[in-house]
Amino acid sequence: MAGTGTHVRGAVRQPDALRELLRLAVERRAPLATDPATTIYRLVNAAADGLPGLTVDRYGDALVASLYDDDDRLPPRPMPEPLIALLAETAETIGARALYVKYRPKEAGRIAEDQVEMLAPPKPVWGPDLGEFVAVEAGLAYLIRPGEGLSVGLFGDMREGRARVRAWADGRRVLNCFAYTCGFGVAAAAGGAIRVLNLDLSKPALAWGQKNYRANGFEPDPYDFVYGDVFDWLARLAKRGDRFELVILDPPGFSRTRRRRFSAARDYGELAVLAAGCTAADGLLLACCNVAELPWPRFRDQVLAGLAGVGRAAEVAGVYHEPAVDFPAPAGTEPYLKMLLLRLG
Ligand SMILES: C[S@@+](CC[C@H](N)C(=O)[O-])C[C@H]1O[C@@H](n2cnc3c(N)ncnc32)[C@H](O)[C@@H]1O
Repeated sequence: MAGTGTHVRGAVRQPDALRELLRLAVERRAPLATDPATTIYRLVNAAADGLPGLTVDRYGDALVASLYDDDDRLPPRPMPEPLIALLAETAETIGARALYVKYRPKEAGRIAEDQVEMLAPPKPVWGPDLGEFVAVEAGLAYLIRPGEGLSVGLFGDMREGRARVRAWADGRRVLNCFAYTCGFGVAAAAGGAIRVLNLDLSKPALAWGQKNYRANGFEPDPYDFVYGDVFDWLARLAKRGDRFELVILDPPGFSRTRRRRFSAARDYGELAVLAAGCTAADGLLLACCNVAELPWPRFRDQVLAGLAGVGRAAEVAGVYHEPAVDFPAPAGTEPYLKMLLLRLG
């Protein structure tokens, strides 16, 4: 029965129950929906909202639904029509105009380029194609491209992380590693950072980041959007004596470059040591990790052991997770997003 652990594909057989679960999910987000300064948030969080296999994110006028299937079959089974109809109904209730769908195979890290269009159809399944548009978070503008790949421009679960970075940034030099579209960079610039250096291995993501700066009235300095491998750059910056009062690490769970394979579960300690080499004395290091399989104590211990191993004093100044209002953890599970704020000696 819908809401008792049945995958959403099966739950469509009970449209009334499914409609009610969607209504409850929307109601739960009411505190966010009433804030016009934030139009980016999660509307449905899978099992935690009684809808295993389905997440729905709101980006202003667009809903982006993700279907998680147990099989990895390609092309993926399309979203069932009754579910599209119910989500369209939900969109209309909250004033959204389009619905996009993403299919999430279990091994998301192994997706080949030519599979992306199959998993992330560029056109909406309902409503007009919105192309690129602006959605807001805490009054800051972010360019969203709901039809461009599996990631559409901003990860909503990091909302409070960005708010904290904005609050800490004043008067600090900030290093934003694994910057993607520079969400942390925009937040730090808005918070009064003296300088923000954004590092990423994707030129299109950094170009998108520059557009995000402009959308907020900040003129991007091209020297502050650096293309390259974070591991190489951290070593380079440390060697040439560049120091930052706030260093942000927000890597993917896995990353493979021509020269290196990174797994957060295995290598985070090493990454933290490299980052510490660029962190000023008394500076802050924010280490983030979204790997659900890496339990919080192991993540913390790995980072602290790495720093202790190189004799760098580290005081835990804060521990944060994804926002519970729109990313509630399913019963019996821990939050998956871990943010460890360290003050380094
Ligand atoms: C999960 S996203 C990071 C999210 C981002 N911090 C944010 O606030 O939205 C992963 C990003 O890491 C980048 N990346 C992966 N491996 C990298 C590496 N070795 N060096 C630099 N960037 C890397 C990818 O290009 C991608 O933009």
